Amino acid sequence: MITKSATPHYRIASIPADGIGPEVIDAAIQVVEALAKTLQTFTIEFEHLPWGTAHYKEHGRYIPEGALDKLRSFDAGLFGAVGAPDVPDHISLWGLLLAIRGPLQLYANVRPVRTFPGTKTPLTTIDSRGIDWLIIRENSEGEYAGQGGRSHIAQPWEIATEVAIFTRVGIERIMRFAFEQAQSRPRKLLTVVTKSNSMRNGMVLWDEIALEVSKDFPDVTWDKMLVDAMTVRMISNPYSIDTIVGTNLHMDIISDMAAALAGSIGIAPSSNIDPTRKNPSLFEPVHGSAFDITGKGVANPIGAIWSAAEMLRWLGRGEEAGKLMESVEKVCEAGILTRDLGGKEDTKGVTKAIVEDVRRRYGKE
Ligand code: NAD
Ligand code: IPM
Ligand code: MN
Repeated sequence: MITKSATPHYRIASIPADGIGPEVIDAAIQVVEALAKTLQTFTIEFEHLPWGTAHYKEHGRYIPEGALDKLRSFDAGLFGAVGAPDVPDHISLWGLLLAIRGPLQLYANVRPVRTFPGTKTPLTTIDSRGIDWLIIRENSEGEYAGQGGRSHIAQPWEIATEVAIFTRVGIERIMRFAFEQAQSRPRKLLTVVTKSNSMRNGMVLWDEIALEVSKDFPDVTWDKMLVDAMTVRMISNPYSIDTIVGTNLHMDIISDMAAALAGSIGIAPSSNIDPTRKNPSLFEPVHGSAFDITGKGVANPIGAIWSAAEMLRWLGRGEEAGKLMESVEKVCEAGILTRDLGGKEDTKGVTKAIVEDVRRRYGKE
């Protein structure tokens, strides 16, 4: 952040990348720029980084040399999606997104899940209040450690290993972060999700560390849940849940399901955070490239817009983020929805409605 005058200024790396990424990041930037111009409490600039599959096809790599240092020169990053139909997913994902999350130690992946007014949850176990959960995903190790290999290639006895890594430091820092997040919410309720019945090493260490860390948070009520049973609880007893913490892979799956239960994968945001603030954090919708709707102009931009709001919150602009989300909610409430939420609007229509609501609601004249 640069503060020349009284108005703080933020420099953001924009990485739209693949598929619907450019469509939804374009929408998020439009909305944030309109917010900044209307409120005049901060200024913001986005620098476009052309990383993604086109870059890979031209240069043989998804991100250039020195990419992490480049990112470190920004206050934060706003990311679209990566993955293309003609490149194996493990190449694209490890080439871009996973080449940033782990190396920058963005160890907390924060995924709020909410049902907006005017939208419906498919759950019949829930009333019009819908869902309001906070998912905390370990984002630097576990099943995504990248450890393993293949031997006896192409032999009938070919072997592949995929080793999950769980470290005391890695578990403790995410657990502490999750307890803090739960403590900051009105219900002060945390569910620690593992699979410590079958996975008798790493998951047992998770349980032990949860118990240790819980002693520093006597005002947080917490319980433990096996991940399979957690899926049942999310459907049959959704109001018993508030904040959830779990491993990289478990929360990847749980957060997609949670988004669908709240209304649509198209609205879900995520923050890849370095809570120590040594590195800039990266904000992105939970969804992927969505090949089936790429270029059709129908992608729901709210996942990206909400991610941008979370970015503003992380940068210290909580009040502005709140105002932006109020406009998002009002637009949903007015029935201006994309198809995934049962509406008829396209990406541009929803974006325009949010921009107009921001101007009308917060404009000076
Ligand atoms: P996906 O999230 O791209 O799509 C799943 C379904 O949800 C599709 O039917 C899609 O149309 C729909 N959907 C997703 N976002 C939407 C939006 N904003 N509005 C309306 N509908 C939306 O998941 P997938 O099909 O498993 O993955 C496609 C590609 O994206 C793969 O290459 C995958 O590896 C990659 N991926 C990337 C990220 C990321 O960059 N963060 C996340 C998930 C998947
Ligand atoms: C997500 C995505 C990524 C993940 C993929 C694209 C590597 O599904 O952000 O949820 O599994 O973390
Ligand atoms: Mn995912």
